[in-house]
Amino acid sequence: MGKYVIAGNWKMNKLPSETYDYIKEVVEATKGAECEVVCCTPYVCLSEAVKAAEGTHVSIGAENLHFEDKGAFTGEVSADMLVDLGVKYVIMGHSERREYNNETDETVNLKAKKALSKGLIPIVCCGESLEQREAGITMDWIAIQIKKAFAGIDAADAKKVIVAYEPIWAIGTGKTATDDQAEEVCAGIRALLADLYDDATAKEITIQYGGSMNAKNAAGLLAKPNIDGGLIGGASLVAADFAVITGAAK
Ligand code: 13P
Repeated sequence: MGKYVIAGNWKMNKLPSETYDYIKEVVEATKGAECEVVCCTPYVCLSEAVKAAEGTHVSIGAENLHFEDKGAFTGEVSADMLVDLGVKYVIMGHSERREYNNETDETVNLKAKKALSKGLIPIVCCGESLEQREAGITMDWIAIQIKKAFAGIDAADAKKVIVAYEPIWAIGTGKTATDDQAEEVCAGIRALLADLYDDATAKEITIQYGGSMNAKNAAGLLAKPNIDGGLIGGASLVAADFAVITGAAK
């Protein structure tokens, strides 16, 4: 299956002045990890994060980007700006941005294509609400999100994309999907990618679970055959907890 990738999503936490030391802490704590270790930080922390991670096993990601190259987009940040800083990964389509910042399946697709064209690795988030899960339409909803996110992306580029399955009801709530619930959807996403592309491509795509993943529940989730990593919010803010999760990814 896909390469194991454990990525922290700091969201709107930590200060630029705390970033260098904290990344050094993560580097130390996650030494020997057998997975790719990524910290996605707020824009203003990126340059300190990249500096601290340079020459180490830790890579740095952004939490968003704009899909245009440049121009009159006040407050936005382009792929070229991220690449210029030394950023390698970028999150898009997070449910928080879909809810509060007008992120749509269309902008996710534009951002994914832009990121890939600039050599950034997109972490494409998808996930259902509690109402959708209770209505039994989880996989239909996720199929729409995934098909739209991958539209116009060829198999060679698709292999580079990371999909993060994050049930909205599990984010920041302490309510994790059970190992079997998470595996069921991640397996469904893999089957869908096999339909869109082919089996070999689908197997190479890293599929993460995200939503209250922590030091206690990570091993069970990561042992599932279709869960190739995690996108970690709260637990990525404490290096020791994050390190237990990276240690469980093998
Ligand atoms: P929590 O791990 O805090 O639930 O956040 C998950 C998430 O949204 C990661 O992108």
